[in-house]
Amino acid sequence: MPLHPSLTIVDHPLVQHKLTLMRDEGASTATFRRLLREISLLLAYEVTRGLELRTTRIRTPMCETEAPLLKGKKLALVSILRAGNGLLDGILELVPSARVGFIGLYRDPDTLRPVQYYDKVPGELDERMVIVVDPMLATGNSSVAAIDLLKEKGARNIRFLCLLAAPEGVRRMAAAHPDVPILTAALDERLDEHGYIVPGLGDAGDRLFGTK
Ligand code: URA
Repeated sequence: MPLHPSLTIVDHPLVQHKLTLMRDEGASTATFRRLLREISLLLAYEVTRGLELRTTRIRTPMCETEAPLLKGKKLALVSILRAGNGLLDGILELVPSARVGFIGLYRDPDTLRPVQYYDKVPGELDERMVIVVDPMLATGNSSVAAIDLLKEKGARNIRFLCLLAAPEGVRRMAAAHPDVPILTAALDERLDEHGYIVPGLGDAGDRLFGTK
């Protein structure tokens, strides 16, 4: 029985090489940030593979021809604050016209459930491919909550993009949102008792923004 009906591990050598450099505890904030941006470009290439095309007529310096262009409403990228922003920047370089949304969630210390404190997402989500970005798919609680919210707002064609996934988070997503494909650079071993991914890379937000 597979962990998830649609789990893609991007095993491109450049992605794997950069991910190893990011995992290293000696990587500086600047290095970590640069590598995450570079990897996000490569992941964006894979996650947008299913975008539909239409044909348009253009004139090259040589002749008139039919050529493909992206079809339909602009893609929506939704970043789960705050570490999602590290993936967002690179993807926006590749798809500069994408619409962008943000969802802020924190973990209630008593219930350990995600509580939403902010959301601002593009309209007409039902007509867009929506890519939710968060570098770490750990317990899956915040990803599931973010996707619940996007579905309530009409999103139907959603993908989840992360850098590292734990089997626990992938299973949780498969149970709650089996229709949402997951794309990741690596599937790690497990979560520790604090919900951190092992071997992982530590706290992605702290490493990205230099907080501790
Ligand atoms: N969030 C992180 O930043 N790191 C983990 O390992 C798990 C969740």
